[in-house]
Amino acid sequence: MTRPIVALSRRLPAQAEAALAERFDLRRNESDVPWGPAEFRVALQSADGVVCTVSDRLGADVLVPPVRARVLANFGVGVNHIDLEAARRAGLVVTNTPDVLTEDTADLAMALLLAVARGLGSGERLVRSGQWEGWGPTAQLGTRVSGKTLGVVGCGRIGQAVARRARFGFDMPVLYHQRQPLPSTHDLTPHLRWCESLDELLPACDFVSLHVPATPHTRQLMDARRLALMRPTAFLINTARGDVVDEAALAAAVRSGGIAGAGLDVYEREPQVAAALLDLPRVVLLPHLGSATTETRVSMGLRCLANLAAVFGGRVPPDAVC
Ligand code: DGY
Repeated sequence: MTRPIVALSRRLPAQAEAALAERFDLRRNESDVPWGPAEFRVALQSADGVVCTVSDRLGADVLVPPVRARVLANFGVGVNHIDLEAARRAGLVVTNTPDVLTEDTADLAMALLLAVARGLGSGERLVRSGQWEGWGPTAQLGTRVSGKTLGVVGCGRIGQAVARRARFGFDMPVLYHQRQPLPSTHDLTPHLRWCESLDELLPACDFVSLHVPATPHTRQLMDARRLALMRPTAFLINTARGDVVDEAALAAAVRSGGIAGAGLDVYEREPQVAAALLDLPRVVLLPHLGSATTETRVSMGLRCLANLAAVFGGRVPPDAVC
């Protein structure tokens, strides 16, 4: 029996590739060099399904009908890099990989929060530089995390997982903002406070952690005006998408002492990082590590497999985005 052809835009962890290869005729991108529009067009013309990643760009120039592929299985939860309208026009089902990366991404948000509050980035650089002069009562003082107030912007799966860690692990009062409050029956509802507006949340927090998807509505949500609403002692954490923050305004706010610092895992033009951020010691910069554990990346691959298999089997895929 002929097996559906599946093209992978990037190499995946071995266990995920092996599982995909058992079910499908797998075409790997052996070099692992990210594909451009031409390679994607070829894959869409020659495969029944294409697995893409959050660092690929699939605009209307790539998703041009007619295509052979029936499904675009995104290895990642965010789909802001895919023109969903164009995908629909090309007759493609688009799927993503929710849930499986929630806990690891929430862990990373907490790691950034701790890192920036306690100066882990500058401390590590100090030790490696050979300039460390030893323990001192006033040396390398950071900010306490336990008991401080966290603001969660976007209280979906990952926002909730961060809220749980902060509330129950670090005894932090947690405020959150999103259009609607969580249902009254939600187990977190008695433990969090909903803010109807972001402007209400920002001045009340010691840490603000972003967990909204990148949409036209959230583009540069944290602009100069909103950054100015934060406390001068507060820190901004972004593990969501770079587009959600005006990076120039953020750098200016940290440089001028408008806010105390920031922990970033995502950037507007990855892998480029705004030069203005690079020389700020009170900003911790990570290379988009949110889902980067072997466990999660294997699970993401298996989730792509389930979605591909559903489409090829004529079923509705579990994680259909469109
Ligand atoms: C996602 O899935 O959107 C994450 O950013 C990948 O780490």
